[in-house]
Amino acid sequence: MRTVRTVSDLRQTLQAWRADGDSVALVPTMGALHDGHLALIRIAQSQARRTVVSLFVNPRQFGAGEDLARYPRDEARDATLMREAGANLLYAPEPEAMYPAGFATTVAMEGPAQGMEADTRPGFFAGVCTVVAKLLLQAGADCAVFGEKDYQQLIVVRRLVADLDIETRIVAAPTVRETDGLARSSRNAYLDPGERARAPRLHAVLQEAAAALAAGAPPASTLDDARRALGDHFDALHYLEWRDGETLERATLLDRPGRLLAAVQLGTTRLIDNVAVPSARKAA
Ligand code: PAJ
Repeated sequence: MRTVRTVSDLRQTLQAWRADGDSVALVPTMGALHDGHLALIRIAQSQARRTVVSLFVNPRQFGAGEDLARYPRDEARDATLMREAGANLLYAPEPEAMYPAGFATTVAMEGPAQGMEADTRPGFFAGVCTVVAKLLLQAGADCAVFGEKDYQQLIVVRRLVADLDIETRIVAAPTVRETDGLARSSRNAYLDPGERARAPRLHAVLQEAAAALAAGAPPASTLDDARRALGDHFDALHYLEWRDGETLERATLLDRPGRLLAAVQLGTTRLIDNVAVPSARKAA
C-alpha cells in the first residue's frame, strides 16, 4: 500500500489503475481508525477492484472550542490497520495542500444540512460538504463509502453528489457497535471508565423508542419519554428526532422508513447515534 499526499500523485495512481480497467472505491476518514472504519474498507473492496482511503483531519469541520487540537492522530498505526484491511492506497494530504493560501470556496447546503448536528455545530456541514466535494472530485472514484453512524452526514453527502452532479455512487455502511451497543467512534477514546459504562444507554433508549414506534405506540409520548430518559441519564440532551430515513424531514407516520437520531453530552464528549424505524408496511 502506497501513501500519496498531493492531488496530482493521487490522480496519477488512479489513472494508471483505470488504464488497467480497474474500478476504484474511496473511503474518506479522519484517521484514528477503529472497526467501523475497517468495515467501510471491507465494503469498499466488495464494490470495486481498488480501494483508496483518505486520512485528513479537516480543520474546517471543527468549531471553535471543539476537539481539533486533541483529535487522536497516529498515521503510522492507521496505515498499518488499513493495509491489513486490504486498502491499496492511502491519500493523506497536508492541510496546506487541501486549503492552499487564497482558498476561498465553501460548499453550503440547506435542507438536510439544517437542524440536529447543525444546531449544536454551526459550520460543521459547510466544512464537511467542502472537504467531501473536494475529495470526491480529486479522486473521481466509482463509489465512496460512508457510515450510517453519522446518518445526517450520509444524507447530506447523498444530497451533495446529486446537487453537484458528482458521478460517484454513495454506498452506506451499517453502524459497527461494541458488544454493549455503543457505536464505535474515535471519540470513545475520550471517555473515562465511568462515562464508558454510562454510554451504551444512548443506543438502548433509541432502540426501545424505535421498537415502540414500530409497534404503534403514540409518537409524541414515546419521543417525550425517550427524551426524558436521555436527559436524565446523560449530562445534556442535544436532540432526539424522528425523521424520514431518506430526506430527514420530520416524520409523523410509519408510512416510510424512518430514523431516530440523537446526540448527548457525556462529560466533555459528545456522542451521537441513530437507529432505523421500520415503516409499518415493512414491519408487517
Ligand atoms: P470519521 O469520523 O473518521 O468517519 C469516517 C467514516 O467512518 C464516516 O463515513 C463515518 O460515518 C464512518 N464511521 C465512523 N464510525 C463508524 C461506525 N461505528 N460504524 C460504521 N461507520 C462508521 O466522518 C468523518 O470522518 C468526516 O466527517 C469525513 C466524512 C471524513 C469528512 O471529513
